[in-house]
Amino acid sequence: MNHKITIAIDGFSSTGKSTVAKRLAKRLGYVYVDSGAMYRAVTLYAMQNELINSELVNKAQLIEQLEGIEIDFKFNEDLGFAEVYLNGQNVEKQIRTLEVSQFVSQIATISEVREQLVRQQQKFGKHKGVVMDGRDIGTVVFPKAELKLFMTASAEKRAHRRYLELIERGDNVDYNAVLKNVQTRDHIDTTRADSPLTMADDAIEIDNSDMGLDEQFEYVLQLAEDKIKQCN
Ligand code: CDP
Repeated sequence: MNHKITIAIDGFSSTGKSTVAKRLAKRLGYVYVDSGAMYRAVTLYAMQNELINSELVNKAQLIEQLEGIEIDFKFNEDLGFAEVYLNGQNVEKQIRTLEVSQFVSQIATISEVREQLVRQQQKFGKHKGVVMDGRDIGTVVFPKAELKLFMTASAEKRAHRRYLELIERGDNVDYNAVLKNVQTRDHIDTTRADSPLTMADDAIEIDNSDMGLDEQFEYVLQLAEDKIKQCN
């Protein structure tokens, strides 16, 4: 018997959740879903449709237009992971900019947005065999997930990782702006009223401040394999 499980990975921004989740899904033959990409896609929609003016989000209009916002993932064979599409357009690159990062946490406080995205995320995980990363996966989206991980690292380490990522992509960013964004998002994500970022009681905490990517992956893979064995 090969009973598939649900793996929920939550944690602070730039803790390497998506890197480890992608690799884990590939190794296990599971589907990977980046829930943050969905909040980022809604944010990009708001930016493109002038629903953000002078740093303020026009919540009422965004909520009104929610039904017309379609988010899909399509697997890219060359890249080995699924890219995100907003109303039929590949927006994988556009959603990762610092500009989108600067508004995404505000957008993610809107309950109507969360409701719609959580419903879609639960559909993706209906048949198990899924690795999903985000902020509320183990607490709200899949409270019954068999394996829950919670990733942390110091804000400075995380900002440094994100800064290098953006520079490598060719984005001209300033380290202090990235650090400020990481800290601001931590604050908004942990203090919002709806589904704040918090560790589920049954999650395993991993502080990867001083862990290499391979070391972290091997550790997480072991946890997943042990859990899958237990569930079979
Ligand atoms: O990759 P990074 O750590 O920068 O963040 P992300 O996973 O792309 O998520 C971007 C933002 O979306 C977060 O800072 C949260 O505000 C929001 N988010 C959320 O509220 N719930 C989720 N399940 C995933 C992301």
